[in-house]
Amino acid sequence: MMLEIRDLRAGYGPVEILHGISLGVNSHEIVSLIGPNTAGKSTLLRGISRLGEGWYRGDILFEGRSLLAEAAHRIAGLGIAHVLEGRHIFPRLTVAENLRMGAWSRRRADAAQIDESIERVVSLFPRVGERMSQAAGTLSGGEQQMVAIGRALMLRPRLLLLDEPSHGLAPKVVEEVHAALEAINREGVAILLVEQNAQLALSVSSRAYVLSGGEIAKEGASDALLHDDEVRSAYLGI
Ligand SMILES: Nc1ncnc2c1ncn2[C@@H]1O[C@H](COP(=O)(O)OP(=O)(O)OP(=O)(O)O)[C@@H](O)[C@H]1O
Ligand SMILES: [Mg+2]
Repeated sequence: MMLEIRDLRAGYGPVEILHGISLGVNSHEIVSLIGPNTAGKSTLLRGISRLGEGWYRGDILFEGRSLLAEAAHRIAGLGIAHVLEGRHIFPRLTVAENLRMGAWSRRRADAAQIDESIERVVSLFPRVGERMSQAAGTLSGGEQQMVAIGRALMLRPRLLLLDEPSHGLAPKVVEEVHAALEAINREGVAILLVEQNAQLALSVSSRAYVLSGGEIAKEGASDALLHDDEVRSAYLGI
């Protein structure tokens, strides 16, 4: 397993949100984590990247290394990028500047390597490439999400954490984003995808976990979960 979470408990102050969850992501895999509002999905992702408050107990292993033992600022440099919930782009900076900001932790990367990464983002998201000198805040919601994902890729991560990348996007744009995720994955990046929209998440991932009330309620092949009666009635509204 590339990422292995064992018996993770997490919370804020006296409140425990995650009650001992275990999950794993293999290299080259897309795994989704679905579940209702306030289940603790974002809390879980922020535990891996440590981009947030809250306490975490248990084990989070990345390529065998204990992440909870690492300083938070070192996690990105280990090859883990996190696209946060909402679109955290820098609205006044141009698209190109936003992308370049994503390479901040690649201290040893030279200009040519950074340019090559930008080319890769542009080949995934041609629409982003057409708007490199536009202020990112003036892009459509879907384009902003593409910039946010592109910026995460500038780290050259081996594991990409995505928190509701399709939230609020039109179905056609969601398809574009998901096609890009599949292309990113084919290039060898493992993906842990959080979505409230279970149908979407299950259609793009190979395996999935259902998080409910801070516990893993179900796990399995995404195809099987798509046809699971409980999942269908609770999360797919079918
Ligand atoms: N910084 C914080 N301080 C205190 N409580 C928090 C904090 N962040 C999240 N919580 C609480 O933790 C619980 C889980 O929140 P979390 O954002 O992880 O859920 P989620 O599954 O991502 O929900 P959503 O689908 O709405 O994004 C919620 O009850 C939330 O209010
Ligand atoms: Mg969330």
